Amino acid sequence: MPDVGFVNGRFMPLAQAAVPVEDRGYQFGDGVYEVVRTYQGKPFQLEAHLVRLERSAEAIGVSVPYPRQEWERLMTEGLRQAGYEDSKIYVQLTRGVAPRDHVFPVDAQPTVVMTIRELHSLPASVHKAGVEAVTMEDLRWGRCDIKSLNLLPNVMGRQRAKEAGAFEAIFVRNGLVTEGSVSNVMVVRDGRLSTAPEGPTILSGVTRKLVLDLARKEGLAVEERYVTVEELRRADEVFLSGTTVEVLAVVRVDQKPIGAGIPGPVTRQLGLCFKRAVG
Ligand code: PDD
Repeated sequence: MPDVGFVNGRFMPLAQAAVPVEDRGYQFGDGVYEVVRTYQGKPFQLEAHLVRLERSAEAIGVSVPYPRQEWERLMTEGLRQAGYEDSKIYVQLTRGVAPRDHVFPVDAQPTVVMTIRELHSLPASVHKAGVEAVTMEDLRWGRCDIKSLNLLPNVMGRQRAKEAGAFEAIFVRNGLVTEGSVSNVMVVRDGRLSTAPEGPTILSGVTRKLVLDLARKEGLAVEERYVTVEELRRADEVFLSGTTVEVLAVVRVDQKPIGAGIPGPVTRQLGLCFKRAVG
């Protein structure tokens, strides 16, 4: 089965999906998006993703064309057409097509794009070994809580990480860790789990919330507070959370080992809890 595309109500093979050059998503990055993955063929945490999509869209003044039930129906249909065991669903909503002008167009209809592609999870060996990260200055705007299409700093960060032989770029603003370019960052020290608080400096991850809930259920102390870059470096454990990374140990930061340089016990424990939660 080919990857599936969806544009404004119509399904098609992804290779045939297109939007006009004057779509504001293309011209201005004027839109928002979500990435949802399936487990056992079903969209995981769909409600939470749709709630966040609605929040992001409202924050930029774009109306969401479908109620949640309709999104679910459309995704189910797309998944049926794609027929993969597990899929990555990308949803993008822009302010629509209009002659290029910064001011909002009066009569444009939002453009809805969805793609459904086969999910390639990180290999178990990567989860077992953990990954490397590099820190870099957080150059993003003041509303990182909106899942906007404007990902240039994230793209540049992830590329810089790749060129440094690392997996993720960890953003630091005024000496404080915000999040990764595609994930939230969790730090463990003396059995306490710390991560940046919800607010305009981070994208509030669906996985972040689930992992924090699991940690609390496991009786771990959880602090939603900023960690300094020094604390990050001196941590016992660091891990990432996100739809694509799940729970992923960071064993080196800026070429220096974190703790013993292998995935630590809290990360492994939460990784197991996460596996149970998705299975
Ligand atoms: N990104 N922070 C940032 C900057 C992200 O881009 C993401 C996810 C997360 C984790 O959020 P969640 O747990 O809801 O996936 C945190 C997606 C996967 C992406 O842009 O591809």
